[in-house]
Amino acid sequence: MTHWAFVTGGGGDIGGAICHALARDGLGIACVDLSQERAEEVCAGIRQAGGQAVALAADVTDPDAVSATVAAARRLGDIRVLVNTAGKANGRSIFTTDYATWRADIAVNLDSAFLCIQALRDHLIEQQGNVVNIASVNGVGVYGFPSYSAAKAGLVHLTKSLAVELGPRGLRVNAVAPGSVMTRAWNARLEKNPGLFEDLTALCPLPRLSTPADIADAVAFLASDKARMITGTILAVDGGLSTGVPMVGRTVAQLPKGG
Ligand SMILES: NC(=O)c1ccc[n+]([C@@H]2O[C@H](COP(=O)([O-])OP(=O)(O)OC[C@H]3O[C@@H](n4cnc5c(N)ncnc54)[C@H](O)[C@@H]3O)[C@@H](O)[C@H]2O)c1
Repeated sequence: MTHWAFVTGGGGDIGGAICHALARDGLGIACVDLSQERAEEVCAGIRQAGGQAVALAADVTDPDAVSATVAAARRLGDIRVLVNTAGKANGRSIFTTDYATWRADIAVNLDSAFLCIQALRDHLIEQQGNVVNIASVNGVGVYGFPSYSAAKAGLVHLTKSLAVELGPRGLRVNAVAPGSVMTRAWNARLEKNPGLFEDLTALCPLPRLSTPADIADAVAFLASDKARMITGTILAVDGGLSTGVPMVGRTVAQLPKGG
């Protein structure tokens, strides 16, 4: 009998890679996205590779839509894994963040995870399943985008709170905190600065940026039985960015280039 994963933002670049990775691990995929077209595209790829996947179009910031979509997913079978990937960064700085922008960032990055967790909570406990939230380095340090960062910091704390509260019932709750991941979410900024990825790479300890597959592999690990004793973890998948910036140490120590 197939067990299913409920993946929000599953039509996106990181969400799509997560859907494929979990499908390769034998889970059926309920691919939930605002865009039916994007979700269908991901599901078609999974089915082509021999997996099971169903596209469900929904706005996961809407409580009624979440209830209806969870009910539809439950008709597919038992759900073992919830991955909250839906997210977006709107307010670039405090000067461009009005209340509507603030609300939009909190809704898509934090409310959505709360709503999906609440809707699936009892079933996931019954299944002894687990939750993986896609947070961000912005949720643990300061990298711009204040309202997005506040929402991701909230998601980090929600992850830890639920790990402690639901652990005694056998439900694991973890998060992955990506650094900069090469996805279409960067397209507008890349148009302004085609060298943006090179500029960012120069700030990271590892000499490349992440791909969606790098994030998906970490999610698949946390969602699997290999992580059976791991809960409440915020796993940074950021090439070391949240640990330190090489340039800072080199500047402080006044090391010569290449030394
Ligand atoms: N790309 C990065 O550098 C990066 C870094 C850190 C964290 N993240 C996080 O990873 C996640 C995925 O980002 P991505 O870069 O793949 O972006 P993306 O835009 O490719 O994917 C996001 C997906 O979420 C969907 N979505 C947005 N709002 C929704 C809603 N209300 N209901 C349902 N679906 C909705 C979109 O339609 C889209 O398919 C986000 O939570 C993002 O904050 C991304």
